[in-house]
Amino acid sequence: MNPHPIRLHVISASVRPTSAARPLARWAADRAREGGRFEVTPVDLAEIALPFLDEPAYASTGVYTHPHTRAWSALADSADAFLFVLPMYNGGFTAPFKNAIDFLHREWQGKPAGLLSYSAGGSGGAPAALMLRPVLEAVGMVPAEASAAVPGITELVTADGFRAPEGLADRLAAVLEEVTTLARRPVSA
Ligand SMILES: Cc1cc2nc3c(=O)[nH]c(=O)nc-3n(C[C@H](O)[C@H](O)[C@H](O)COP(=O)(O)O)c2cc1C
Repeated sequence: MNPHPIRLHVISASVRPTSAARPLARWAADRAREGGRFEVTPVDLAEIALPFLDEPAYASTGVYTHPHTRAWSALADSADAFLFVLPMYNGGFTAPFKNAIDFLHREWQGKPAGLLSYSAGGSGGAPAALMLRPVLEAVGMVPAEASAAVPGITELVTADGFRAPEGLADRLAAVLEEVTTLARRPVSA
């Protein structure tokens, strides 16, 4: 019997109107759909359009007063795992992404997270992914050790979408394999 598909939210973690995350995330979502292990939901942080954290109570209380927080909570709740598609800005991850993480707490607990970073330069945003790991752990997510990075993003995004460099599909497959293992691990009571 096949196990249930893992509900994977592929999150574009940039809100810039011309963000390269969208074509890259679409490509990554298509790769994740191959093989039928995942039920994929694309999520664009620009469409979620969260303000800066404006809840009076800590997220850890689970007391949410604003409709935008409740909607974001319901969306994150409905995921078993995440694939974050994140750019590097000035050596780190983006402020809107951190803000979106800070809005919630219980919704992240114990959930695996894969990281697919990108940048214009040669690092492919790997330093941003490295900075993100302790943040994800602090809110209770379980980042996969394997990650994938896309350097030179501006040359790879065209009017036709994202042109994947050689080897990237294999690196993303390794990330998704680990996310699968983490999502299916036995959870102690
Ligand atoms: C505010 C800002 C800071 C950036 N800093 C870096 C950087 O430190 N290193 C780098 O290689 N590219 C940097 N870039 C280029 C981005 O990696 C590239 O434009 C990427 O497409 C940005 O993601 P986005 O399209 O989702 O906004 C920066 C871009 C912006 C807008």
